[in-house]
Amino acid sequence: MIDVAVIEALKTLVEPGKVLTDAASLEAYGKDWTRQYTPAPSAIVFPKTTEQVQAIVLWANEHRVALVPSGGRTGLSGAAVAMNGEVVVSFDYMNQILELNVTDRTVRCQPGVVTKQLQNFAEENGLYYPVDFASSGSSQIGGNIGTNAGGIKVIRYGMTRNWVSGLKVVTGKGDILELNKDLIKNATGYDLRQLFIGAEGTLGFVVEATMRLDRAPKNLTCMVLGTPDFDAIMPVLHAFHGKLDLTAFEFFSDKGLARIMARGDVPEPFATKTPFYALLEFEASNDEIANEALATFEHCVEQGWVIDGVMSQSQQQLQNLWKLREYLSETISHWTPYKNDISVTVSKVPAFLNEIDAIVSEHYPDFEVVWYGHIGDGNLHLNILKPEDLPKEEFFAKCATVNKWVFEIVEKYNGSISAEHGVGLVKRDYLEYSRSPVEIDYMKAVKAVFDPNGIMNPGKIFTV
Ligand code: MLT
Ligand code: ZN
Repeated sequence: MIDVAVIEALKTLVEPGKVLTDAASLEAYGKDWTRQYTPAPSAIVFPKTTEQVQAIVLWANEHRVALVPSGGRTGLSGAAVAMNGEVVVSFDYMNQILELNVTDRTVRCQPGVVTKQLQNFAEENGLYYPVDFASSGSSQIGGNIGTNAGGIKVIRYGMTRNWVSGLKVVTGKGDILELNKDLIKNATGYDLRQLFIGAEGTLGFVVEATMRLDRAPKNLTCMVLGTPDFDAIMPVLHAFHGKLDLTAFEFFSDKGLARIMARGDVPEPFATKTPFYALLEFEASNDEIANEALATFEHCVEQGWVIDGVMSQSQQQLQNLWKLREYLSETISHWTPYKNDISVTVSKVPAFLNEIDAIVSEHYPDFEVVWYGHIGDGNLHLNILKPEDLPKEEFFAKCATVNKWVFEIVEKYNGSISAEHGVGLVKRDYLEYSRSPVEIDYMKAVKAVFDPNGIMNPGKIFTV
């Protein structure tokens, strides 16, 4: 724990009342949505300006205090967990949208802006911020940048990285850097902006971000299609991809649907039961596109790839169909799931999923496995639900032994052990399944340049 005098010095750097040390705050701000760690930070500090963030980083260097960044704390990798007496730097009070530039189609914002706030702001101005996921109501832009958040629209719009045109950061040394100056074209050497995206706060803190916006989509329309088995989903993807500009292509299993239906607040898509479901979305900006979608659906039925399906006819139906997919994460969180977020190139998905599914069901026939994910991006979420009567520790220990097998398969298929949730603490010890030891050494060397005293979110991504 940190010396009282050092915490007193911290208090002089921010506004009165903006350093908290009470037990409830330490508990709340010391963790993210992962549930397997016990939070134990020393204090929570709430800066309001870039200068205050810089002062905090300089203070931390002087006293060798570890800092953990905290946004909406919706992460699933433990990257925002503080369990070793660190000081948590919360961006809750740096939550202003600073400037809209309609010509450049950019918006400059502080890191604590909530994703939904940015999406609504864009919409109010006739524009669109396309990075979207179920936790958009709580997650913050700084955290999205730190984890290079993906979500449900990646097939069309890409990850958060694609939407960052400029960053202001405070490095682990306490320097303020303006990265890329919001330029579209800038061929002046290393693009340091990209290093900070997905760095999980290990190199420094983002204190301002200029995000790109897009034109608003027209008449978004959703289809949910029931397939006879998992393998049929890929030809369905291929068929629709060839005909339409998809804005999403997701999937979930019957087990996932059953959990959603059990909630009682989401309408059933159709009566026919199938083992897997694809959810796709496109802009039906004219009748021709809607007819093309229906013709493709009929083709998929004729081929035996689809058994039943539904297409949204209203905004309300669109939202209801999306709930089938978007509510999954929160709904199954009740069963303390053991989560995996793995990816391969799209063409390898069927063989990859079948191999993993076989190994998990062989070794753990009693565990319920709920598959869902962003299949159009090759990103699968494998969720193993904890049986009610099995203690949490025992369950996680059993699942950890599955990890090795799952990640060996990921490695064999040249995939990623974390497609979009990040590495944090959860995947740290498995990084070598996706990155070579030499590559990890280069990453550590980069960290040492920006953070020579190792105060920025230490122990996340790798141990240094
Ligand atoms: C999702 O796709 O729903 C999110 O990544 C969260 C999750 O995997 O549970
Ligand atoms: Zn996801």
